[in-house]
Amino acid sequence: MNALDYHSFAEAWESHATIRTRPRRLVEDDQRLIYPLSRQPLVLSETFVRECPQQRDFALAQSLYKFINDVVIFETEIVDRTARRIAKDRFAIRFPFACRYDAMTVVVDEDYHALVAMDFMQQTIALTGIEPIALPREIELSRAIPAALALAPEHLRDALELICVGIAENTLTDDVAAFARDDTVKPSVKGLMADHLLDEGRHSSFWARLVRIYWHSAPEADRQCIAEILPVFLAQYLTNDIQKGFDFALTDHLPISEAARQTLRQEVTAMAYPIDHRHPLLGNILRLFRASSMLDSPCVQQALAHYLPEPRR
Ligand SMILES: [Fe+2]
Ligand SMILES: [Fe+2]
Repeated sequence: MNALDYHSFAEAWESHATIRTRPRRLVEDDQRLIYPLSRQPLVLSETFVRECPQQRDFALAQSLYKFINDVVIFETEIVDRTARRIAKDRFAIRFPFACRYDAMTVVVDEDYHALVAMDFMQQTIALTGIEPIALPREIELSRAIPAALALAPEHLRDALELICVGIAENTLTDDVAAFARDDTVKPSVKGLMADHLLDEGRHSSFWARLVRIYWHSAPEADRQCIAEILPVFLAQYLTNDIQKGFDFALTDHLPISEAARQTLRQEVTAMAYPIDHRHPLLGNILRLFRASSMLDSPCVQQALAHYLPEPRR
């Protein structure tokens, strides 16, 4: 794909973007859950269920707050930054106006997602009376992207940033979809997630197309250099250090014995996914590598061998 073959999705944005089409979501005062149990396995653990089942809604509210906090950081500090530079043509890779216009719709969408998330946080605090515990200042990408960029020569930094954001914008999709299928969760929370998902469908293909345009124009030496850095990015992106730190902090706020707290922490630690092809986000990550045609390059196949499903090794 050549940059000149790029077709803008501006019309789809006008008719479908949630900022153009969705009313404000109001959180319901009902018995349903504020956050899916499947997204906070801590509350399903043996020790939690035995020691403090009455803390379930507290733990779920805190997990929703962390999710919202992560969304705000991701949208405003990661995606907004890259999309805005593309939109304003302040990016090392030059894109035609149609791409830049679409990048500006991504900026608008992401900042709107952050606003909606903040609205929901306020509504939930008002409804439940549960104040958030200290929330992380960073997400995994706040570390993984700078770590990758530090390894890249100056002239490849923007290209690598584009690929990292492209990967991240393809993984959020499944993350958010997990909510939409859960009937034990409040409809407003599901609606909020469904709205976000609708916009992210557009974004994931936008980033894949931009990465594809870049990759087709990149010299082999540059491709090779980028491919070698990808495993460093993925290893940091997929770590659960921040989630684990948050879960540990959450256990500090539970009225349980010190011995139970230690057991709970061991259970949390054991829940971490392995950082290889078995990690649940890998399917989406590989989708970006396929859609952008990056995975057709032998250097990328080689660099990602550790992350490819068994038969492809
Ligand atoms: Fe978003
Ligand atoms: Fe997005």
